[in-house]
Amino acid sequence: ALDGTGLNLADVADGARRRLDPVHWDFFAGGAGDERTLRANEEAFTRHRILPRILRGAQVRDLRISLLGCRLAMPVLIAPTAFHRLAHPEGEVATAHAAAEAGTIMVVSMAATRPLEEIAAVGGPLWFQLYPQSDLGFTSALVRRAEAAGCRALVVTVDSPVFGRRERDLRHRFVDLPPGLLCENMRDPSGRVRDIEMDAGLDWPRIGWLRELTTLPILLKGVLHPADARLAVAHGVDGVVVSNHGGRQLDGAVATLDALPGIVAAVDGRLPVLLDGGIRRGTDVLVALALGATAVLVGRPVLWGLAVGGVAGVRHVLDLLRDDLDRALALAGVAGPGELSGDLVAKVAGG
Ligand code: FNR
Repeated sequence: ALDGTGLNLADVADGARRRLDPVHWDFFAGGAGDERTLRANEEAFTRHRILPRILRGAQVRDLRISLLGCRLAMPVLIAPTAFHRLAHPEGEVATAHAAAEAGTIMVVSMAATRPLEEIAAVGGPLWFQLYPQSDLGFTSALVRRAEAAGCRALVVTVDSPVFGRRERDLRHRFVDLPPGLLCENMRDPSGRVRDIEMDAGLDWPRIGWLRELTTLPILLKGVLHPADARLAVAHGVDGVVVSNHGGRQLDGAVATLDALPGIVAAVDGRLPVLLDGGIRRGTDVLVALALGATAVLVGRPVLWGLAVGGVAGVRHVLDLLRDDLDRALALAGVAGPGELSGDLVAKVAGG
């Protein structure tokens, strides 16, 4: 079933490019503006090199971590991405099966094209990504829905006060889902499916309101400035995700790997710090964790796997990352995520 999916995530991306409608490929692959930040995320990893340790007898590696009460088989989660049914007819349900099989968490996007309850019925651990809506009644109903479905954390996306300007989509006039596909989690009590609102009025008091609303762990996704990481701690959130939305929001924003050390220093061990953007190899995971991330998330590669082979395709992507991380750890003389530290990474000039 996996013929042609390839040896690495770039091969899987090639397979997806061949299969997908070019309009949908561009929706998944693209970023905002000149796509500087999109490129910078991957490029930042090429400016960091590993200083491997030798003779440490790391015969068996243990990739497991625990994170906000969840036990994961590896420190790689599935980032929330919209519209999985554009990649595969089963959409988010297929992604959830692969995540469950791989022993990791799927963060379900608010813009999922399958209802949350159907994704939860798969049985794997889920977190729910929320764009808080200015309609507080609707927002709290959605949080209750996520709780009832068994989601174990809320990931509140805070880098999207307005939509980023995605010029690939503008060129294609891609504005709406094709007939039959809907953002199933945006149904209101009357059955009408609302548009997702990007609320430029979102502010810290509203995070305080969410904190009061639910006992679920809350992570803020899209933190890049150390001062905001300190504010996150002060507002009682449970984790931060260093993210620039895969370069889809503020073009020119710092690469996530370059922002990571400042956030790690600001948080100073008080919260887990996650990172996404540009993770394409096990060595990328190693570097991010060595610089202080507790775990990473992958966005586009999961969509490529889904497009290429549904459950098996996503599973292939997660297995490639897992095996690659295991090998990288072995070659660096490290027995597991907990042993990674900043001295194992050197930053070099240029790209
Ligand atoms: C995203 N991302 C995103 N984030 C979010 O909080 N809610 C969402 O609905 C979406 N939707 C979405 C769609 C697509 C097609 C992409 C590529 C991305 C951002 C995502 O969670 C993550 O931050 C990036 O994808 C990480 O970068 P990589 O792994 O794609 O390089």
